[in-house]
Amino acid sequence: MRLKASLIACGLLVGAATVLTGNAAVAAPTRYEAETAPATCSGTIDSNHAGYSGTGFCNADNVIGAAAQFTVNAGAAGTATLGVRFANGTTANRPADVLVNGARAVGATFAATGAWTAWTTATLTVSVNAGANTIRFSPTTAAGLPNIDYLDFEVTGGPTGGNGRPNDANLQYYGRWNRSDSSWYAMGWAGGYVDARFTGSSIGVRQRNTIDLYFSINNAPLQWRRNVSGNVTLATGLTGSSHTIRIGYRERAGSYTGDPVFGGLILASGAQTMPISRPANFVEFIGDSITVGQPNANRPFTAYPWLTAEGLGAGHSQVAQGGACLVSQNCYGMMDWFRRSSAWATYDDWNFATYQATAVVINLGTNDVGHGVSTTQFQQGYITMLQRVRSAYPNAHIFAMGVFRNRYVTETRNAVAARTAAGDTRVYFVDTTGWINPATDTSDNVHPTDAGHAKIAQRLRPILDQYI
Ligand code: GCU
Ligand code: CA
Repeated sequence: MRLKASLIACGLLVGAATVLTGNAAVAAPTRYEAETAPATCSGTIDSNHAGYSGTGFCNADNVIGAAAQFTVNAGAAGTATLGVRFANGTTANRPADVLVNGARAVGATFAATGAWTAWTTATLTVSVNAGANTIRFSPTTAAGLPNIDYLDFEVTGGPTGGNGRPNDANLQYYGRWNRSDSSWYAMGWAGGYVDARFTGSSIGVRQRNTIDLYFSINNAPLQWRRNVSGNVTLATGLTGSSHTIRIGYRERAGSYTGDPVFGGLILASGAQTMPISRPANFVEFIGDSITVGQPNANRPFTAYPWLTAEGLGAGHSQVAQGGACLVSQNCYGMMDWFRRSSAWATYDDWNFATYQATAVVINLGTNDVGHGVSTTQFQQGYITMLQRVRSAYPNAHIFAMGVFRNRYVTETRNAVAARTAAGDTRVYFVDTTGWINPATDTSDNVHPTDAGHAKIAQRLRPILDQYI
């Protein structure tokens, strides 16, 4: 708006030609070539099909995990138009998810273009933050992506106000949410949350059945509303033009059968949501009750995963369940279960393209002992786990923590060494010896107290910080 007005003013003063030149410069999209860093291509940069621009194009590997990623710069937050030039010389679509800053924003069809030399441009609209944004094309079928030549990027509109419903594009979800019911998005596992920016002087949330929820407005300390349902008012009398809110739920596990679903924000009359930025990094923690933060009252947000990631300014989730093991031997084996959307999903239903973790931290082995898992079995299982995490998150840094009770630590270390020897350059063993004193930092020799969790976070955070 302000730009347009000043251009018109400029035109009035110095003539139409100046206005046209100015306008063209403002309107031109910026071109980002797929072959030029910081763009990445999980495949090869090829030049064997004529008609591309620059020096080549991205021929990504024809697998689901492969991707072409661009890093674009937005002068302001708002709605951006993406022009992605591609060629698909097959006869079938090559569908893909488009992830903006790690979260799925929209889908692309990438229809057949008739030949690998027939290049065409698909136009998409997404919301972006001010500054750097990653735009990632992630194929949804094993056919992979089309060949991708470049991305034209331009912020074409201001931020769009939203209505706060669960599918409002301005909301940012963290963790594994089941979105199959558009009225109630369901939080799987533990430590999931939704962030929003909103206008107006009050805010509330719709809940279905009884749940313990926690929230923070304008980054104030998190607080609980326990046993709430229906329309829950969280704040009134807010002053200022816009506010932020974070809402999360107590995990459904064991004897706790609350209903961790998000039914949308209740905005003041005439108010709306606005875009809120999403950090570049996302850390997924996979583990058992220690990673959930059980049995402490303020879990998940006093547990080490939350504290570690918040300290790094990263998004996070706790894909963890009390009693879980690594190996599925009469136990909840996370090497299998981490591929699910929740601890009660009936098959491996999670779509890892929903978001990509930039780091994954595994803390497993404390419970396998009680289920008779041999050291050989554990080590083999851990290698498989690391392979599976790698295929779920092709670029993530993966950290395998030795468990605090000193169980299978040698096998954990060996599994990391085996994956390193197999060529994985982003997998690390984390030696936790001496981090906590079971006598004083746990409530029962196993589960860290809040202070114990804080100690762990203090040790883990600088380690992750070296990589993300
Ligand atoms: C052919 C073509 C590649 C393309 C590939 C594919 O090999 O030459 O440029 O990427 O098919 O099917 O993805
Ligand atoms: Ca290809």
